Amino acid sequence: MHVYQCSLPEKAGEFMINTLSSNPVVNVTASYSVRHINLAKWVMEVAALCQPEQIHWCDGTQEEYDSLCAGMTAAGTLIRLNPSLRPNSYLARTHVSDVGPADEHTYICSSSEAEAGPTNKWQAPGQAKTTLKTLFKGCMRGRTMYVVPFSMGPLGSSISQIGVQITDSPYVVASMRLISRMGKKVVEALGVYGDFVSCLHSVGKPLAPGETDAAWPCNSETKFIAHFPDTREIWSYGSGYGANALLGKKSLGLRIASIMGRDEGWLAEHMLILGIQSPAGEKKYIAAAFPSACGKTSLAMLAPPAGLEGWKVTTVGDDIAWIKPSADGKFYAINPEAGYFGIVAGISESTNSNALSTMRENCIFTNVALTEDGDVWWEGLTDRPPAKLTDWQGNEWTAYCGRPAAHKNARFTVPAANCPSLDSRWNDPKGVPISAFVFGNRRATAIPLVAESFNWDYGVYLASISGSEHTGAMGAVSDVSRDPMAMLAYCGYNMGDYFSHWLQMGRELKSPPPIFSVNWFRIDANGKVIWPGFGENFRVLKWIFERAQRKASAVQSELGWMPTYEDIDWTGCTTVSKEKFDSVMTVDKKVWQKELESHQTLFDTFATKIPKQFTLLRELLQLGFKR
Ligand code: OXD
Ligand code: MN
Repeated sequence: MHVYQCSLPEKAGEFMINTLSSNPVVNVTASYSVRHINLAKWVMEVAALCQPEQIHWCDGTQEEYDSLCAGMTAAGTLIRLNPSLRPNSYLARTHVSDVGPADEHTYICSSSEAEAGPTNKWQAPGQAKTTLKTLFKGCMRGRTMYVVPFSMGPLGSSISQIGVQITDSPYVVASMRLISRMGKKVVEALGVYGDFVSCLHSVGKPLAPGETDAAWPCNSETKFIAHFPDTREIWSYGSGYGANALLGKKSLGLRIASIMGRDEGWLAEHMLILGIQSPAGEKKYIAAAFPSACGKTSLAMLAPPAGLEGWKVTTVGDDIAWIKPSADGKFYAINPEAGYFGIVAGISESTNSNALSTMRENCIFTNVALTEDGDVWWEGLTDRPPAKLTDWQGNEWTAYCGRPAAHKNARFTVPAANCPSLDSRWNDPKGVPISAFVFGNRRATAIPLVAESFNWDYGVYLASISGSEHTGAMGAVSDVSRDPMAMLAYCGYNMGDYFSHWLQMGRELKSPPPIFSVNWFRIDANGKVIWPGFGENFRVLKWIFERAQRKASAVQSELGWMPTYEDIDWTGCTTVSKEKFDSVMTVDKKVWQKELESHQTLFDTFATKIPKQFTLLRELLQLGFKR
């Protein structure tokens, strides 16, 4: 049994922990001093609760990363990939119970249930803490407890936030180093009194003396991920994978940050940020939200199509945007992350060559298949699969055996610096000015390829009804799953209040940027997607770019301003006829009468929290479609 103790100084500022030598029993390693009393105190309290074997304060160096990866390789948690095919890269295979977001076990523990809203799971903070303290008691026995200081956003940016994650997973530490600014410099930036969000994480699987992990460590029975808006804390138990465990990402980056944004007048959004540069060198930035599985990473790393090679798309971020109004009348956005944790499915040389180059080295892959020569493979990477593979669970796999080789949520984790399309201002502490917002849908009929909203409020309305439908084998279309602003799973408070916050943010600027709705997924009578997508989506982005410059024309429809065939640049395009284009732009009155009924169903979920403007706008749309 270890004794955990921490003696605190009389006066703040005098306190230095050099390898926390005040603790005589637990071995603590740190290559730097910590002067932040509350941080040191919290670490010792957590150690007393979780009872780890040792404590390591992470410094974020390459040596530390390499040694963690070497340790995991020796233990069998990571497999080193063939260094000549995939330098400095690894494969991890998770437990079958730990392959994706644990939404069922993810809670917002605000003081009242109404504050969390009807679309979040809620528990009273006191009750959640009691359960968590029981779960965390002794949960790190036999393991190293890592202290991971990280900055979401460039250090020193007024938009950034600091977090400190305590975790018993070296996989999490290594991943945090790839996708966030992590280590000693963050502790220095915190100084003695700096604010940080405390993020406590455990895989929930203590080790008996002498025991090592035979396989992916997690708790296959109990998972519990709790967010405490009032104290801005996150506690995550039982999962070692993805956003359940990399707490800077969705937990701090969206759930807690959305609450900060509400309270402080900014926006934390589930958005990519991309730059578009014209052949003449003009540049504009666009922030775009899409429901999952709509190709956000591909859009963020888009290569313009044949015929428009003089244009460039540059990547600021692929998943999260923090956006603040500025005194110069613009919104400025940063990508709070410093790397990508992206889905590999469907990524190939032809669909997203930039993403493929991004993962050429220094990459951790999770739940992909392993080739015979020690490289990786997933469905969609090549037209024909290799004859033999080891699948994501470590089993032998042969082509056409009927099982997928990679898990559908298999991921790559890499630093942003790997990305060939990385924007030159991706790390700018000021952020980049946003010229347009785009909200994506995956809809078979109702939503046209692109429409520009008449004004800010109406654009927020269109963003709130974002959604997806899926088309089955016989062309049958599922019901729409609404995912307002693609934030349903990530907004840390009542989404009715979130809509009002968006409306209010538009009032902060004299002339807020235009809002566009897009849909790459309209289908024909046979259930086939009409629009070619991928690089061709750039033609739509180019029109958006020109609308933001007030250069491109459009015609008015009930839904907003829409391009005619002539308004889009088709240079080099061989796949889209006028007829095809017109078919993805139609707005059918009958379809919209039903569509508006289903908007009301969505709004009813939020009852009185729905902004009055939405009710009015819906009535206006109803009038438009009656005519
Ligand atoms: C993600 C998601 O993992 O949105 O980024 O699903
Ligand atoms: Mn996402």
